[in-house]
Amino acid sequence: MMRNIVAGNWKSNKSINESREWMNEMSELASELPSDVRVMVAPPTPYLAALAESKPSNVILASQNVSATNTGAYTGEYTAEMLVSCGVSFALIGHSERREYYGDSDSVVVEKISRCVEAGLGVVLCCGEQLEIRKAGTHEDMISAQLNYALNGITDVDPLNFVIAYEPIWAIGTGLTASAEQAGEMHTFIRKLLGEKFGSYRAGQISILYGGSCKPSNASELFANEDVDGGLIGGASLNTADFIKIIIAAGE
Ligand code: 13P
Repeated sequence: MMRNIVAGNWKSNKSINESREWMNEMSELASELPSDVRVMVAPPTPYLAALAESKPSNVILASQNVSATNTGAYTGEYTAEMLVSCGVSFALIGHSERREYYGDSDSVVVEKISRCVEAGLGVVLCCGEQLEIRKAGTHEDMISAQLNYALNGITDVDPLNFVIAYEPIWAIGTGLTASAEQAGEMHTFIRKLLGEKFGSYRAGQISILYGGSCKPSNASELFANEDVDGGLIGGASLNTADFIKIIIAAGE
């Protein structure tokens, strides 16, 4: 099964017109893209329905967030079902920026995963440690706690609709990338955890992406690790030229 995925997370960037332009460029360059890499992008939420109608067929749409609640009196929220009805295939859950600035605690992450599973929306579950934790050498404990909490009670996943992103917080938007060795070690550790939970056959089917200052100049080295199946790309996903170089690196 194909594990390679490169996903762009635009965060709060781009106008709708700029988003359409990006999609057009991706469509024009479609023939250059490797066929063994799934390409995903998470634009700002207000554009999702419009982009679902105009995006090239080789780009999968993701939402940067999803509500923890269902249909009802929840002002400002949008449900997993709504996203599915708009042609969105995945939601990012537990991104460190959501955890830090918007109260997405471990228990909120659990609720969001449940809503996605119920609605048939794919999940990109993000995890990652702070610099202090990395310095203290307790990063594996933290990732293990985050993932065990998020996946508690889940006995199996559909590997086509469930992706893990490891994003060390100290590497996000800082220009400081985890070394290929640091990323490789952590990804192998995460796959082992998934194996303990779901069995090693299933764990071997799940894509584990690296995120944090991943760019054309370091993508090949990071993706050379057996357990690094691609990337969740912030800044370098904003322009198609860089993003496509990263996609090509994931297919090598
Ligand atoms: P950067 O690639 O800008 O460091 O962002 C990574 C990220 O947070 C993707 O979700």
